[in-house]
Amino acid sequence: MENEQASYDYEPFAATAEYKEVNQTIVRRWVGAISARGGRPVRRVLDLATGVGTMVELFLDYLPVGWAQPEVICLDQNETALIQARENLRPRVKNLNLLHSTVEEMNLPPGSVDVVIWGNGIHYLNEGAQESALRNIRRTLTEGGWFFFNSAFCFESRPPQTIPFYRTQIRKAVGYLRARGVMREEKESRPAAGNFLPEAHYQMLLQRMGFAVEEMKDVEVRVHQTALEHISGFVQYAAGALHGYRPEAAAEAMRETVEPALKEHGVRDENDQLYIPRNWMEVIARVFAPLAAGA
Ligand SMILES: C[S@@+](CC[C@H](N)C(=O)[O-])C[C@H]1O[C@@H](n2cnc3c(N)ncnc32)[C@H](O)[C@@H]1O
Repeated sequence: MENEQASYDYEPFAATAEYKEVNQTIVRRWVGAISARGGRPVRRVLDLATGVGTMVELFLDYLPVGWAQPEVICLDQNETALIQARENLRPRVKNLNLLHSTVEEMNLPPGSVDVVIWGNGIHYLNEGAQESALRNIRRTLTEGGWFFFNSAFCFESRPPQTIPFYRTQIRKAVGYLRARGVMREEKESRPAAGNFLPEAHYQMLLQRMGFAVEEMKDVEVRVHQTALEHISGFVQYAAGALHGYRPEAAAEAMRETVEPALKEHGVRDENDQLYIPRNWMEVIARVFAPLAAGA
């Protein structure tokens, strides 16, 4: 099980304007897709890797007026997250259930959920774990059910013209560590958050696991210095980017080198603020056929 503290250094990033806006845009699209099909109402929603419940809260915000509020299940492997999610959601969610589990190991009754949301979390898992997770999600979804997910950590998230920024940042971060006498300690494997799998991987995985992919799109976001510092200071991300260094030291070095790398490679917005464009992949998939026994 993941270190409880490690997952929570991501939360300051979740509080940035960039993060809120892009997730609002994406969740609005998702709810729009459901209402555009005019199908049956959503009775039960499962929010995977819920964190503090941001995605399910947005989902409820955008539900069409007149739709009954669905039952909500929030799942996370981190207990601290679940406690915070409960505090945030309790005032507005009538029927809220918390599930302390990994996505790979969750064991909800087959066909019991109409909508599964997995916001900003699929990239934490390696390919094998993603496959187990998707098998579980498919089993849990009802026929015609919806699976929505997004990520800013796939190959296409970093457009080619932004790669010099990331390279410069890493070069400067290695220099930062060296200047402080921090040496590389070899590790056996690279954390999944450093893997940046391509969108084609997600497309094929979904199809192999029996999902119909309805939409796979990039939403471009201008990520400014503070948000870049939060992403960079995220221990799992920094450990992937500066593979082999102590994760906390890597996170500090990555955070501290955002500004100088941004000065060299950033783009100026209309307010003269520097940013790096980044793509958020958003995906809409559905389940139409029940899972074969034993699959
Ligand atoms: C970046 S937060 C995303 C929170 C929220 N879904 C959002 O989009 O803002 C990632 C969350 O994923 C959880 N997580 C990571 N790997 C997980 C896994 N295999 N199973 C369940 N939760 C996981 C972490 O504990 C953390 O709360």
